[in-house]
Amino acid sequence: MASIAARSASQAFRRSVAKSAVRPAQSAKYSLLARAAVNRASLAQKAAPSALAVQTRGVKTLDFAGTKETVFERSDWPLAKLQDYFKNDTLALIGYGSQGHGQGLNARDNGLNVIVGVRKDGESWRQAIEDGWVPGETLFPIEEAINRGTIIMNLLSDAAQSQTWPTIAPLITKGKTLYFSHGFSVVYKDDTHVIPPKDVDVILVAPKGSGRTVRTLFKEGRGINASIAVWQDVTGKAQEKAIALGVGVGAGYLYETTFEKEVYSDLYGERGVLMGAIQGLFLAQYQVLRKNGHTPSEAFNETVEEATQSLYPLIGQKGMDYMYNACSTTARRGALDWAPIFEKANVPIFEQLYESVRNGTETRKSLEYNGRKTYREDLARELAEIDNQEIWRAGKVVRSLRPDYKPENDS
Ligand SMILES: NC(=O)c1ccc[n+]([C@@H]2O[C@H](COP(=O)([O-])OP(=O)(O)OC[C@H]3O[C@@H](n4cnc5c(N)ncnc54)[C@H](OP(=O)(O)O)[C@@H]3O)[C@@H](O)[C@H]2O)c1
Repeated sequence: MASIAARSASQAFRRSVAKSAVRPAQSAKYSLLARAAVNRASLAQKAAPSALAVQTRGVKTLDFAGTKETVFERSDWPLAKLQDYFKNDTLALIGYGSQGHGQGLNARDNGLNVIVGVRKDGESWRQAIEDGWVPGETLFPIEEAINRGTIIMNLLSDAAQSQTWPTIAPLITKGKTLYFSHGFSVVYKDDTHVIPPKDVDVILVAPKGSGRTVRTLFKEGRGINASIAVWQDVTGKAQEKAIALGVGVGAGYLYETTFEKEVYSDLYGERGVLMGAIQGLFLAQYQVLRKNGHTPSEAFNETVEEATQSLYPLIGQKGMDYMYNACSTTARRGALDWAPIFEKANVPIFEQLYESVRNGTETRKSLEYNGRKTYREDLARELAEIDNQEIWRAGKVVRSLRPDYKPENDS
């Protein structure tokens, strides 16, 4: 859905793309979406009776459960200021996967001068054309895009960043800025061999979500949370640039971190509760129900459907205690008793996982698997295996019974 919506929006915008990459001064029409987004966000913020509303704009030191942290916000970067800040820059977005799509379209809609660099005639090249990037005008082979850019946004897959580095490195000349959305390549330099030139700023903007969400939140007038960090500050402006670019690509709030902390927490989280652990827990619970004679629909409903449709959204809205409170006293008692047992059983696994991230084991695996020529086909095969597991086959039938079910959204 997101990609269809994004595509139709970008097709509408395509009509207003200038012959060459859009200059801010020429981008009045182009930035209508961006302006609407910013207006909606600032209205929402004015209406919100939160602690933020009573603070001055810009840098904020907020108290997160007793720890003070710095947060930067989009409202300090009105569109005119943003466009003026980058008026002499060309953002060369290298790679057009999920992040390239979301960040690139948002920056373009914000009226910034963006070009895309990807392998000619590959899947990304085709996708970029579909999104309105024009070969020879705003879409180039990787090397040419880097030569034309002043801010080189390396959004290739992490494995590809390592593989292409010998070709890319000599093109990142003095005065350019090197941008990443993950600390992976430079932090694990012993494995990736990505060592940035000494005379360029090296910065990070890591949206906390898929590139599709980066795009949909921007179009809704909201902004995604993102982490920002500086690896190398040659100009003294590296952090300011990171904040401005974060806003440019669609972030609402930007949280300060380091390259190391970003990559450790990110690799850990996605292998853990965000993806790996959740699939493991769902499967474990489902299997035991099935072994004990429960039907697929009952096992699925009690494991996934109730979680995703009823309970997890409540955690998102107001926290775990709120979700517990919304459930029966019987459910509450059991959950209170069993949570510490699951915690105790899982801490050693999470310790093992963090160490595997810290010592580079996870990085080396990722470089090996995702560096293969057949990485897309290999991944598709493994995902097809998941899709074919009984739990997810049962899920398809359960989903089809939802009142708002539309088959086209489930293919
Ligand atoms: N996805 C997320 O949720 C997310 C969130 C935050 C940060 N990040 C970070 O953002 C960056 C980009 O991630 P992504 O998910 O958007 O992209 P991705 O799917 O990991 O990478 C896709 C891009 O890499 C290119 N590519 C792959 N192998 C290549 C090779 N050997 N030579 C040249 N190009 C190659 C692909 O081009 P072809 O089509 O030509 O193969 C495609 O344009 C990564 O550093 C990632 O860690 C991702």
